[in-house]
Amino acid sequence: MVCDEKHKSLDVVNQVDQSCTANMSQHEFDLWSSLLQKRTGMVLPVQRKSFLVTNLGLRMKELGCRTYQEYYDILSSGMDGELEWKFLIDRLTVHETRFFRHPASLKVVRDHVLERIRNRPETSVHLWSVACSTGEEAYSLAITVDQALQQAGRDAQENYFSVVATDISLPSIKTAREAKFKERQVLNHVSLEWLEKYFDRLEDGRFQVVEKLRRRVCFTPMNILAIVPEVVGEVDVIYCQNLLIYFDRAKRFEIVDEMARYLRPGGLLILGAGELLGWDHPEMKKLGFSDVLAYKRQVKRA
Ligand SMILES: C[S@@+](CC[C@H](N)C(=O)[O-])C[C@H]1O[C@@H](n2cnc3c(N)ncnc32)[C@H](O)[C@@H]1O
Repeated sequence: MVCDEKHKSLDVVNQVDQSCTANMSQHEFDLWSSLLQKRTGMVLPVQRKSFLVTNLGLRMKELGCRTYQEYYDILSSGMDGELEWKFLIDRLTVHETRFFRHPASLKVVRDHVLERIRNRPETSVHLWSVACSTGEEAYSLAITVDQALQQAGRDAQENYFSVVATDISLPSIKTAREAKFKERQVLNHVSLEWLEKYFDRLEDGRFQVVEKLRRRVCFTPMNILAIVPEVVGEVDVIYCQNLLIYFDRAKRFEIVDEMARYLRPGGLLILGAGELLGWDHPEMKKLGFSDVLAYKRQVKRA
């Protein structure tokens, strides 16, 4: 946060009712939601006021803060403040996810990978799972690619593939790396055949993704508004679902413009159906699926 911004925010937070977190006025809500938008780009509509009050309040209680000002001071205190922001962001973001959440999109990925292997059998395939939450999406992509390789009669060992998976939430990334999932998270969404092939049953009843697949996926904390080029590299598939909904239209355009820079010529961008309307990019062609929002990067750059 730049200094001016910080002072302005402090001014406004000074006006916050210091008595009780439950009584958050509309004005206070506006201050906190604009602070959140500055830091993360996320838009918190007024309908989510109770969500903000609850989660802010819970975190303040954990820290023993009695007023918004007290908590704001912690958030503004150098390195400790930066760390606290990470906790708060985790609390204020929705991490809902599941294995094979949108099968139609994964089928488009599978077909793209198959075509790629047919045309350029010697090359490797790299994917980026954007806002991967606790990892189910990234592992679903890894299974999808592994299956495609087998369908093409190739061993994953000879056809190298990788998935880089990023999310702003540190706790989510930690869970994703452990790759241990409760029975209901797996049984409800993964076929028995794939369960046997891609998961080990642990003594505590949970399922862990097999090491062979875990090695293909690299989880890294990253804010989509501050992409680190070295983390992403150049990828063949960008898979970004249920993230753009938290941003306003202009920010969505900015984010996809920026993400598209990391796509190889011929590469595929998959978004959540209905999450982006009216985006136009000289190098990206929208594909004509009714249930999947997909764009392909033109092989020749415009
Ligand atoms: C609803 S989950 C979607 C998970 C998965 N993509 C899916 O569709 O199942 C949204 C995720 O976006 C992450 N997120 C929110 N803002 C973000 C940002 N600015 N940069 C990166 N990740 C963000 C949250 O931490 C959360 O894990």
